Amino acid sequence: MQNDFLWGVATSAFQLEGSPHADWASWDSILDSKPDVTNHYTLYKEDLCLLKELGVNSYRFSIEWSRIQPKENVWDDGAVAHYQDIIDILLESNIEPMVTIHHFTHPLWFIKKYPWHEDASIEKFSDFVEKIVSTIKGVKYWITFNEPYVLLLGGYLEGCMPPGIKDASLAVKALKNIFICHGMAYDKIHSRIPDAMVSVAHNMAALAPWKRWSPMDRLLAKIAKHFYNHSLLDAFLTGKMRIKFPFKSPIDVDLPIKGKLDFFGVNYYTRVHMRFNPFKKMGVELRHRDIDGYGLTDMGWEVHPYGLQKVLRYASRLNVPLIITENGIATRDDQRKIKFMKRHIDVLEKCIKDGIDVRGYFYWSLIDNYEWLQGLDARFGLYKVDFDTLKRKPTNAAAYYSYLIRSRSF
Ligand code: FCB
Repeated sequence: MQNDFLWGVATSAFQLEGSPHADWASWDSILDSKPDVTNHYTLYKEDLCLLKELGVNSYRFSIEWSRIQPKENVWDDGAVAHYQDIIDILLESNIEPMVTIHHFTHPLWFIKKYPWHEDASIEKFSDFVEKIVSTIKGVKYWITFNEPYVLLLGGYLEGCMPPGIKDASLAVKALKNIFICHGMAYDKIHSRIPDAMVSVAHNMAALAPWKRWSPMDRLLAKIAKHFYNHSLLDAFLTGKMRIKFPFKSPIDVDLPIKGKLDFFGVNYYTRVHMRFNPFKKMGVELRHRDIDGYGLTDMGWEVHPYGLQKVLRYASRLNVPLIITENGIATRDDQRKIKFMKRHIDVLEKCIKDGIDVRGYFYWSLIDNYEWLQGLDARFGLYKVDFDTLKRKPTNAAAYYSYLIRSRSF
């Protein structure tokens, strides 16, 4: 194993430990019976031992804002110390921490009073970032926002995530404020840690027309690729973003994020096929199809390893190192988990041989956890969790990942 390639696993705080103060806690009734999900907040030391067992040299995790600032003017220094303890344990074990500042959840007071489309959201988030960067020590790798587009699509267009809004013009306002916050966080981190590596984790998907011969399906796939995968890259390259929705005039947005990126985090899971259907919202129908013959996952997602090459190639035009900040499969079948991992890491190896500058791979996820819209049934973990006893048990994929880490040299 080459020392500086980051082999890791990724998690997010809320998905492992819940939080009574988070917007999501009151959003999903599944959490009534499992408010602390895997109880990682208490069992974190045991879980961090699993990282050592795996032999990873890095760990991506998030800091739960609603635990640190449960009320607008209340800061919980005990919660900050808790996350610092995680970092200290990682550093003692030679595991590089990668901290996600925002991974979908917000304090309830924030989302109620200062949702992202309100300009006041910037100051509130800025206070949180200031608290984190002025107190947390020992972190070089930072993700400001996990999947900002998923947050916007879910929170502002589909309405299936807090704040549950369906309004394209508010979505554009929210987008702008979120990226102003990225730029602000980037500067704050660099003012204290000059050699910090800062990025977002961008969800990129392989997007394809349902029927290759259909001009409408092809047009939709092209528009979707531009918006979902590429427009954010344009904004990092130029400070400008052009948003095109089907059958609507484009919207140009200035975003103060040009060059505010030290590496680029790519979350890659699947391919989506797109079909023109006048009876669906914006004329678009989305579907997962099992084209490669690797089956759909327990979440119904297509397994399409080759798509990883496509998105990495595209992301490489940013001219910063790339890190796969998430890749994983929801399945209870260990063999499928192993094959998924092997196939994607084979593609990754090819990309690196072809000259794409990829510096890390983080498997999602360390242990089974709460999945945003599916609850506890989507089993992504290298370690199984029995949600009644909270016992963790390795899957065969855990041993396989350790073997891959030892045997692949990039
Ligand atoms: C990603 C999210 C992550 C997890 C995986 C399965 O989109 O970033 O929190 O839910 O999907």
